[in-house]
Amino acid sequence: MTTALTLDRITKRFGGLAALQEVTVQIASGDITGLIGPNGAGKTTLFSIIAGKTRPTVGRVLCFGHDVTGWSAHAVCRLGVCTTHQVVRPFGDLTVLENVRVGASFGASGRLGGRTAEEEAGEILTFVGLAHRRDSLASALTLAQRKRLEIARALATRPAVLLLDEVLAGLTPAEIQQAVELVRQIRARGITIVMIEHVMRAVMDLSDRVLVLNYGRLIADGSPAVVANSPQVIEAYLGEKISES
Ligand SMILES: Nc1ncnc2c1ncn2[C@@H]1O[C@H](COP(=O)(O)OP(=O)(O)O)[C@@H](O)[C@H]1O
Ligand SMILES: [Mg+2]
Repeated sequence: MTTALTLDRITKRFGGLAALQEVTVQIASGDITGLIGPNGAGKTTLFSIIAGKTRPTVGRVLCFGHDVTGWSAHAVCRLGVCTTHQVVRPFGDLTVLENVRVGASFGASGRLGGRTAEEEAGEILTFVGLAHRRDSLASALTLAQRKRLEIARALATRPAVLLLDEVLAGLTPAEIQQAVELVRQIRARGITIVMIEHVMRAVMDLSDRVLVLNYGRLIADGSPAVVANSPQVIEAYLGEKISES
């Protein structure tokens, strides 16, 4: 097993609040890893730390063996780790194609293999099912299409590791099915995926392994079946509405 990411005793404090406490985990290359937990558990903060947007208070992040703790988001992205945003915010006054090209310019350079940036962006839009909207303004897209555009922008950076933050949230059951299929296709391209998700059926179906955060602590780590039956996990979710779709 090749290790894509190593989180070594990550602690993050915001003033008096410990958003993450001593989180240690290794993510295997090629896996789909689900990251779940109640609201406020620290999931998005963990992604921000991996992606170089937030520094941990204590602890280290290693990507493919490089200690990237304290690196800029741009540098981490160039190394191959890219994240989507929980709140999607495309450039509304740019077209769909232009939005993807912005993503490409942010990521790894010199890997186009002779193709133009526009050809590359067009291929990615076809892959995510947005080719028919390439010349539309991003502001004109539906939520499901904006989520796909967010994935396309991330793919344009040519990631080895893709961090997906609630890309199924707000979608209809049919749109969720299609998005789940897209995630499978992304993994089939050899991209390691870590996904934060509240849609339990989807995350349990997709994941090789599930990590559970609660109040900033890792309370479970294992196969979907093991995690779903963990008493600590069931306890952590009491009172929280879990999407059934
Ligand atoms: N920039 C910040 N400043 C202060 N507190 C924050 C900041 N970002 C997150 N938090 C707090 O850290 C905790 C974890 O937040 P977050 O990582 O967004 O949780 P999740 O994504 O699991 O819902 C929450 O209590 C949140 O209010
Ligand atoms: Mg979040």
